[in-house]
Parts: sequence; C-alpha cells; structure tokens
Amino acid sequence: MNASPARHSRITGTGSLLPAHRVTNADLAARLAADGIQTSDDWIMERTGIRARHFVAPGVQTSDIAVAAARHALEAAGRKSEDIDLVIVATSTPDMVFPSTACIVQRKLGIHGGAAFDVQAVCTGFVYALALADSMIRTGLATKALVIGAEIFSRILDFKDRTTCVLFGDGAGAVVLEASDTPGVLASELHADGRHVDILCVPGQVAAGQVTGDPFVRMDGQAVFKLAVGVLDSVSRAVLAKAGRSAESVHWMVPHQANIRIMHSAARRLGVPAERLVVTVDEHGNTSAASIPLALDTAVRAGRIKPGQSVLLQGVGGGFTWGAVLLDF
Ligand code: UT7
Repeated sequence: MNASPARHSRITGTGSLLPAHRVTNADLAARLAADGIQTSDDWIMERTGIRARHFVAPGVQTSDIAVAAARHALEAAGRKSEDIDLVIVATSTPDMVFPSTACIVQRKLGIHGGAAFDVQAVCTGFVYALALADSMIRTGLATKALVIGAEIFSRILDFKDRTTCVLFGDGAGAVVLEASDTPGVLASELHADGRHVDILCVPGQVAAGQVTGDPFVRMDGQAVFKLAVGVLDSVSRAVLAKAGRSAESVHWMVPHQANIRIMHSAARRLGVPAERLVVTVDEHGNTSAASIPLALDTAVRAGRIKPGQSVLLQGVGGGFTWGAVLLDF
C-alpha cells in the first residue's frame, strides 16, 4: 500500500487593516514640542525611513482590527468563518490579560470550536504564529487556520521618550493558511535568546489591582540594530538551506518593518536586490507583530506578489527573538 501523500500548508488569502488616522512625522514633532522635546521629520526619515504611522481611535481594541484584517483574508481565500478550525493571534498588545485575543476574535467572527490562542514573540510574533500553524496543519491538528498579527502600540508608547515614540504604529494583517497537497510553506526557522530580554521590553505588570513598574516600550536602539542585522542574515541563510533554495530564487523579501537601514542591509548581505524588498515602514512605521502580514497584504493587493512566487518572511524583535519562513505563494 502506498503511503498517503505528505500534507502541506499554503496561504490562500491575505488581508489587513490600517487605522484611518494618519500621523506624520511633522504631527509628532509638534506634539513632542509642546512638552519641550525636539525631533524632526528629517531625523526620523534619515534614521528610520518612516514618514508616517497610523493610530487607532480611542475605544478600538486589538481584536477589532484583527477581525477586520481576518475578514479581508477570508474573503480573499473564498472562505467563511465557520470553515476555520484554528485562530492564532500574534500580539504584544492584547485586549485583556486573559482570555487570549484569539478567543475574542473567534467570538467576534462567530467561530465555535477548533483551537484559538495568542503568540507572544513581539515583532517576531507573526513568523512564530505562521510556523506554528504550518506545523499544526502538517501534523493534522488543524486544516484551515487564520493567522493574524495585530497591535495597538500607540497605547504603550511614552510620548516623552523621543527615542521610541517616533518609531511605532498600529495595524493588523492576516492570512488564511490551509492544508494542501502542494507545498506553500517550504521551511521555517525560529530562534530566541533570553539573555537580551532587557534591550527591548515593556517592563510593567499588573499586580495588586494596579499596573506596577514601567508600562511603556523601552529600547536600546543601537543594541537591537546590531543584533538584528546579524540574526536576519543567518536565519535567512538557514531557512533557504533547509528548503534547498538559493537567495537568487527569492522573488520577494518581506522583512519585519522596523527600520529601512536594517532592511536594506539584510537584503544586501543576502544578495537580494533592493527591488525585491517589500517596504511599508515609510507609511506604517513599526507595527510589531502586524508589520509582516500588513506588508504582505499590501504587496499582494498591489499585484506585486503573485501566485507561485517565492517569498521570504523575516522577523526580529523583543525577547530577543528572530525567525524566518520561506514559502511559495
Ligand atoms: O521592532 C523591533 C526591532 N526594532 C528595531 O529594529 C529598532 C532598531 N534600532 C533602530 O532602528 C535605531 O537604533 C533607532 C532608529 C532607534 C535610532 O537610530 P540610531 O542611528 O541608532 O540613533 P542613536 O540612538 O545612535 O541616536 C543618535 C542621536 C542621539 O543624540 P546624540 O547622543 O548623538 O546627541 C539621540 O539622542 O539621535 C538622538 N535622537 C533623536 N533626535 C531627534 C534619538 N531619537 C531622536 C529623535 N529625534 N526622535
């Protein structure tokens, strides 16, 4: 008797939600100037490539933007909520301490049953979530997954700290990942090194009925920058080697959107031409776990990423965490 064919997973639809409220560098500079803090459009553009970011309105929750992105992805995949048997939300800014934002998303989409949970790997969260969903589909634990990255970072920014508050934005991106006879996800690599917990963190916690400690994003930007450039290169090479593919075969590189200088350097080191780099950091800022699925959906809807093309997703962020997924779209 022949063995049953290997089961794979494949992206069948993408979606995203970028909040309507656009905040330019000049808007932020004016806001900071009111507190006597100096920054400028020139500094932000030159050091990061960010021109604007988008912030949600008061009262909007992470699950709301996650659901909006998920609905777009479901529509693109030609699927209904009830087809989904796995919801993973990558987020560092959940609606509540518990239950998971994924369960809240499940309720808002009217999905009952299957599995739902959050992944907390900060800016690498979507890559972790996608690799997990792929593993769960390949091992038969799920058949159709919604994999979402959603963040409201504007609520954990200290607008008196110019070294961090100019960098981040809000948004959500989602994909539908389905069991398939032909490979979509080709290889994944996930890593973490907890020795670097302190270089990018929100150290506060809820205790005794209140937030104790510091509830804002704190980052040693230079330390993160140096680590990011090295690990993105090694993890990309590892995932390509695992799949038996070359850097030349990559049609699109969709890296975490934190800083244009890091992205260009990663592409250059790997030998991927700049034209094959998907860049949305200019208009989105750094949306942490949402940045990769937002960039992916933006490029798909612009007709740049086409079915059958090879896409390299690269994540890096707090933890320290990093990872990559290579897939045929
Ligand atoms: O999402 C997770 C991954 N995160 C990242 O990948 C972020 C990685 N790090 C970075 O992107 C960069 O390190 C930053 C954009 C955060 C900073 O750029 P940098 O070139 O490393 O600047 P720096 O920290 O060395 O600061 C240079 C100068 C300093 O002034 P002095 O000490 O030279 O007088 C800062 O105080 O720029 C000053 N500065 C600012 N000036 C105007 C810092 N922030 C600002 C600001 N506006 N917003």
